[in-house]
Amino acid sequence: MQSGFVFCTAGKFMINLFQHLRDETVEAPLVQLLESVINASKEIAFRVRQGALAGVLGSTQDENIQGETQKHLDVISNQLLKDLLLACPHVRAIASEEEDTVVAGNTTGEFIIAFDPLDGSSNIDINGQIGTIFSIYRAQQNIAANDEAQFHQQGTQQACAGYVLYGPSTLLVITTGKGTHAFTLDATQGTFLLTAKNIQIPVDTKEFAINMSNQRFWSENMRGYINDLVLGESGQRGKNFNMRWNAAMVGDVHRVISRGGIFLYPSDNRNPKQPAKLRLLYEANPMALLIENAGGKAWNEHQRILDIQPQALHERVAVILGSENEVETCLKYIGAKQ
Ligand code: AHG
Ligand code: MN
Ligand code: MN
Repeated sequence: MQSGFVFCTAGKFMINLFQHLRDETVEAPLVQLLESVINASKEIAFRVRQGALAGVLGSTQDENIQGETQKHLDVISNQLLKDLLLACPHVRAIASEEEDTVVAGNTTGEFIIAFDPLDGSSNIDINGQIGTIFSIYRAQQNIAANDEAQFHQQGTQQACAGYVLYGPSTLLVITTGKGTHAFTLDATQGTFLLTAKNIQIPVDTKEFAINMSNQRFWSENMRGYINDLVLGESGQRGKNFNMRWNAAMVGDVHRVISRGGIFLYPSDNRNPKQPAKLRLLYEANPMALLIENAGGKAWNEHQRILDIQPQALHERVAVILGSENEVETCLKYIGAKQ
């Protein structure tokens, strides 16, 4: 474990992640588990920086259980996280976007962890934003380590959630229940340093993020809401909105966390077998906890995401999250009972 305070490259005296976790009185087994996540993410970050030189670009010949082609970096990131987490005595089980089923860890481990090893796969080969998303729960004593039911816990039960964003700098955004905080990786020392404490998302916004190419597949109400954003001052919202879309939830959510906004991946009727795109356990739930602990709001089209009772490992949900007032306005448009 690293010591608590270090000088960063700019010569400032800063708190490192592990000192921060001690200040939050996070229990030692969870800190150790997080150390495994951090070590894996630093390995991923290094490979991302090296890009083509590290042979991490391009696709494999394989598909994951969800029928998506796996990129080399999806597989490499998953393997790094899996190896380091399964070596941690406090991990009872892991669930990953890239694993068909639950993978059992140590039968006496106190925690379980679900993760999206590499979010934003379509950005890998274009040198765009990508990240790792994770969600940690307490293991359930009366359920076997390899039983999927370990993960059928509501998002409110998360002990910790976070993401690592591999952007121009590598950032960790994390919550253990006491606020949402951001840490920047000081690559010269391999240490994550606290750079934004108790982040607060503005309640109002003029910025939205949605994949507009899907609009013909949305509900009429959702089309009506987005249409009014696009109409700006000339429509009933009476103000202009700007649009951004990174095609990586981790990048879009980070923008919302940094300066407010609304991020939407609504349900659609493109494919009756897949009414929504984002996955509850390792995309929607961890992001919902980070957003709520930063003062924002995160719903699907009917209820708070964190209250959803998970039914399956890779289940998908609609996601509407971000600045509180704007999320509420959207929910009114689509007729959700708040
Ligand atoms: P992943 O790369 O882990 O499969 O996730 C991609 C997700 C999410 O990050 C992003 O918001 C969304 O897919 C992008 O979808 P579009 O391709 O419709 O833009
Ligand atoms: Mn993803
Ligand atoms: Mn992924």
